Amino acid sequence: GVTSGTSSNASTPSLITIPVVVHVLYNTNAENVSNQQIESQIAVLNKDYQKLNPDTAGIPSYFVSRAANIGLRFILAGIDSNGNVTTGIVRKHTNVTAFSINDDMKSSATGGDDPWNRDEYLNIWVCNLDDGTLGYSSVVGGPSNTDGVVVQYTAFGTTGTVQAPFNLGRTCTHEIGHWFNLIHTWGDAFCGDDDVADTPPQSQATYGNPKGIVISCNNAPTGNLYMDFMDFTDDAGMHMFTNGQRDRMLALFAAGGPRYPLLSSPAATAPPGEPAMTAASPTFSSPSLYPNPASSYVIINLPDPSEIGALLEVYNQMG
Ligand code: ARG
Ligand code: ZN
Ligand code: CA
Repeated sequence: GVTSGTSSNASTPSLITIPVVVHVLYNTNAENVSNQQIESQIAVLNKDYQKLNPDTAGIPSYFVSRAANIGLRFILAGIDSNGNVTTGIVRKHTNVTAFSINDDMKSSATGGDDPWNRDEYLNIWVCNLDDGTLGYSSVVGGPSNTDGVVVQYTAFGTTGTVQAPFNLGRTCTHEIGHWFNLIHTWGDAFCGDDDVADTPPQSQATYGNPKGIVISCNNAPTGNLYMDFMDFTDDAGMHMFTNGQRDRMLALFAAGGPRYPLLSSPAATAPPGEPAMTAASPTFSSPSLYPNPASSYVIINLPDPSEIGALLEVYNQMG
């Protein structure tokens, strides 16, 4: 495997930090998803890619030992390619009412927004996709100007505009799996090969939220690994990547590999962008504003400790 990042002792798996830029393209106001919705997606990625998702409890006992911690940490980029402070979120109104999977959302010239340097950032476009598409990813080794993943705005994150049964952020988890070179578990063919040894062969995609053992392609006794993030179940039905999938993903970070440059992205070591949002807003009180303005003060109560680095702007009431 790959070792990089910071780790206090050899037995602790190190984390690779992936700086993310989210391009929000909206025609309607609803498509302009909130910071909180974006944060909810980043939170899901950090769970799913570190085997911290609570629904690992749904992995059948005979597959538990195959479930992997990928060791990836996702942050909204805190600096852009010029070193300027950013939230890691770009919002843009578009005249395009629905995008197709032809990459128009990835270029300003076609109503989208140009990607940031893929050697420093994972680009995620969130927009309205036509034909019921939930998302798609570029292929590893493809052109730099279309590199990244696209997610339908109703399947992004876990709050706001999301719609069941794609409301747990797994579309983005799945698409980023492709971005890290994973193939669907059925190998995109009848009993096809996904080039991963510990995912059993499987005849076809799985839909819905099945339970129990489903045998195909002589994969008895344990059957299909339909709870893998690279199958097509509802969000609630997918729980894991395998050790083999981890190795295939992390291989991209080997020296000279396609994702190797990300290991030295300046944004990976800079403070993250948009601070974690909470439902609780700060409250303000002014216990001594009058009669002596010279010694006035304001108490700002930040209900969530994560908001303590939030930028505080102070304006004079008169100006
Ligand atoms: N259709 C998409 C793809 O082929 C993703 C499916 C995502 N599934 C989900 N339960 N969110 O890449
Ligand atoms: Zn897919
Ligand atoms: Ca396999």
